[in-house]
Amino acid sequence: MSKIRRFCTTLGAAGLVAMSAAAQAGVGASGCDDLSGIAETPMVDFQSQIQPIFDNSCTGCHGASGPAGLDLRPGESYGNLVGVISTTNTSRLRVEPFSPESSALFLAVNCDAPAGPGFRMQGTDAQQRALIRDWIAQGALAEPAGAPEPIAVPVDGHWARVLLTIMLLLTGLNLVRATRP
Ligand code: HEC
Repeated sequence: MSKIRRFCTTLGAAGLVAMSAAAQAGVGASGCDDLSGIAETPMVDFQSQIQPIFDNSCTGCHGASGPAGLDLRPGESYGNLVGVISTTNTSRLRVEPFSPESSALFLAVNCDAPAGPGFRMQGTDAQQRALIRDWIAQGALAEPAGAPEPIAVPVDGHWARVLLTIMLLLTGLNLVRATRP
């Protein structure tokens, strides 16, 4: 390989690495808080855990015809956020389910320079920002996925054990059969 070609290949590879790193970290946002120390809250509920944050800190500005066209009032906020293109940075969504780091909403509250809106949205504490992070990371659902229904077992402990033993034996038999040449 000629020196020039090798140089170009290296340059291209370095560029690709830099581009994918930028895509992961919410392109251009800086001064972001490190929330990795705050444990994930399971099954965050939009109505009872996220909307109250908006009601307390955001709807004073983000009401009907709010800045950047963003209405965060109850009943309006969800449809204004999830899957909607950000007006201040059209290369990202306001909320991209499963991806807080690329969602304008999370960057707007968690970064000094969110690279969308020109400043950090005030009024949230780290705990609330982590809740927003978790809600988005869990898929930005309108309602949390229901807890799994307990399976009704119509037998007492003794019969459950007998049944389990039979099932294990059958599984074992099948394994032996399957692995026999
Ligand atoms: C003092 C008024 C004010 C408050 C309070 C406020 N915002 Fe904003 N917000 C703005 C302005 C102004 C912009 C547009 C900034 C720009 O164009 O650079 C904006 C933009 C945004 C954007 C970008 C929208 C888009 O489509 O790009 C998001 C997301 C956002 N705000 C969320 C929030 C949240 C969440 C809160 C509450 C924690 C909040 N804001 C509180 C004034 C406010």
